[in-house]
Amino acid sequence: MDISIAVVPVAGLGTRLLPATKSQPKEMLPVGRKPVVQYVVEELTRVGMKRLLFITGPGKTSIENHFDLNDELIQALRESGKEELLEALEYERAPVQYFYTRQRELLGLGHAILCSEPFVGNQPFVAALGDSIIGMHAKSDIVKRMGECFTEKRAAAVIAFEEVDRGDVYQYGIAKPKGDGDLFEVAELIEKPSVAEAPSNLAIAARYVLAPAVFDAIRRTPPGKGGEIQVTDAIRLMMKEGGKVYGIRLRQDEHRYDIGNFQAYFRAFVEFALADEKQGASLHKHLESLLHAHHS
Ligand code: UTP
Repeated sequence: MDISIAVVPVAGLGTRLLPATKSQPKEMLPVGRKPVVQYVVEELTRVGMKRLLFITGPGKTSIENHFDLNDELIQALRESGKEELLEALEYERAPVQYFYTRQRELLGLGHAILCSEPFVGNQPFVAALGDSIIGMHAKSDIVKRMGECFTEKRAAAVIAFEEVDRGDVYQYGIAKPKGDGDLFEVAELIEKPSVAEAPSNLAIAARYVLAPAVFDAIRRTPPGKGGEIQVTDAIRLMMKEGGKVYGIRLRQDEHRYDIGNFQAYFRAFVEFALADEKQGASLHKHLESLLHAHHS
């Protein structure tokens, strides 16, 4: 069965990026030319997702506006002879349908995903975090590879993983893999372990393919770390009850850009700006001269 629904949770407060996120969603912060969430949508539509459900919250309407068709703006650009700018709005025509629902209480990522149940119903679906880009310019087919694995293995869940520095494992959900291949069965999952208790440095990387059984598992999952209902805990529950969970490693060229904190956000912005077709080269020169001045 083809998986064509993706759920994109964007309800979080983004407190680690205050004051930038006081009155705008972190998912709308630009990385290079585009807001983060546009990269997520482009990645998902490229691998054939047909219906996207955003799990939103207060203060997130600019996300909905961003994906609206804006004929007036297009008309204005035409009339003022700025035809070359029309290309920047082509994403509005992507062959996909957008849906929005609100997470009425911020009870965690697991709870956000549960809000999609009435829409998703009884079919497998993708969950893709709205604050994480996979790969430069979001050129990744990880979700397609995950979907194929899901079907072939009759999995309960397939999760994308990226190797992180050992010292950073406490910030992520970490897997204990069976074997060391690029595709592996997950023996155990631990949410935000200490460096000492982490069984590996394989961190959950913002993309999941989930069986609809996850909804029932989330409902039976009590709040965990941080008082939030964690999707990791629900997936563990499915594993405990016999569900098979698989992991796929992101390739070298599929780095996960999580823009949830300033260090990662600044790095992502600079990398994308340096890779910009028109502005990259001159920015490169500018940074070099800045760094040179800084060191001399
Ligand atoms: P984070 O934990 O990184 O996001 O959630 P946050 O809560 O916005 O950030 P801080 O910690 O306050 O800085 C990862 C993703 O899950 C969504 C967020 O919007 C983000 O895309 N999320 C998280 C929800 O939709 N609902 C929640 O209750 C929690």
